[in-house]
Amino acid sequence: GKGGYEHYMLKEIESQPTSLTNTIKGRVSPESGSVDLDALTPETISEFREVQFVACGTSYHAALYGSTLLNEAGVRARAYRASEYQMGSDPVTDETLVVAVTQSGETADTLGAMRRASRGGATVLAVTNVMGSSAARAADETVYIHAGPEIGVAATKTFSSQTVTLGLLAHRLSEHMGGEDRGEPLDLALDALADLPDDLGRMLDGSDAERITNRYLGSDAYFFIGRGLGYPVAKESALKFKEITYEHAEGFASGELKHGPLALVTPRTPVFAVFTGEHDEKTLKNAKEAQTRGADVVAVAEEGHPAVDATDAHLPIPDTAPQWAGLLANVQLQLVSYHAANELGRSIDKPRNLAKSVTVE
Ligand code: F6R
Repeated sequence: GKGGYEHYMLKEIESQPTSLTNTIKGRVSPESGSVDLDALTPETISEFREVQFVACGTSYHAALYGSTLLNEAGVRARAYRASEYQMGSDPVTDETLVVAVTQSGETADTLGAMRRASRGGATVLAVTNVMGSSAARAADETVYIHAGPEIGVAATKTFSSQTVTLGLLAHRLSEHMGGEDRGEPLDLALDALADLPDDLGRMLDGSDAERITNRYLGSDAYFFIGRGLGYPVAKESALKFKEITYEHAEGFASGELKHGPLALVTPRTPVFAVFTGEHDEKTLKNAKEAQTRGADVVAVAEEGHPAVDATDAHLPIPDTAPQWAGLLANVQLQLVSYHAANELGRSIDKPRNLAKSVTVE
């Protein structure tokens, strides 16, 4: 049941300290600091030259997050929208690891992309939440995200568990297939991972997202910007917002704003800017370009961050490794979408025109 919550979505957002604990449990050996995913031996991994992710919607945004983490660790990786992968993508060889990210394990576009990968000779790994799902059965190997069942159509806790699982996978892959400068940034991320469920719990308890969201209801459109790991978060936050509020929202790479979207920015289009602790000066500059056009900027950033004084409102995230700041920012923005949709009286758990798993191409 909903356990006293009005909507499954809010229950699932608030349950993330627990779901993340389950995702992490048993995955990191305290003695060696190495990652165990019950899949892919070091010998298998050392045969791979590159990683291709295939996924749809929210899972695609998690894949983009994962491919960025791998790139930072010196591994060749790219995320594809599964529905486009079948038409055109880099060649697949027997040295390619294809990672299919799918919460339900039943998404037709993703299953199609997995078939193409297998035909090309790739090793296919499914990262899924559902035991015995079609993706788990079709894949050569499977890693479960252990987020627990998700009932709300809008994916929330599964995005966070996917992101952490892909971070662990990135760590494991980079140990055995990374370039010269691999390892260090992801090791820092492993240390911070142990604290992440508690960090998330504190952030949820103190969140001001409802009050800040209410200030901006009735706007013409809602924009989300970010850079690096903040970019998939901006895309994901806009997807969530449009999905459950039916309002116009867009996510942009912050540096792209001045290449066109800035024409849409007015005093009636709030901009939510994600600051992850990396590349933040540039994002702040981009946010100021929006302010110059009269838009309010809401900074999603750590306390005391230089962006806080320079912007119009602040959604704080706890101090963590840059690899997880985006994940935490995303949860604050899940709350923004939820409270906006709730205030507008939308059908939050079952948005119009959408289904929990999409079994047609
Ligand atoms: C958005 C959402 C969808 C799914 C997408 C893929 O909130 O839930 O965008 O993420 O349909 O679904 P899975 O992960 O089951 O393959």
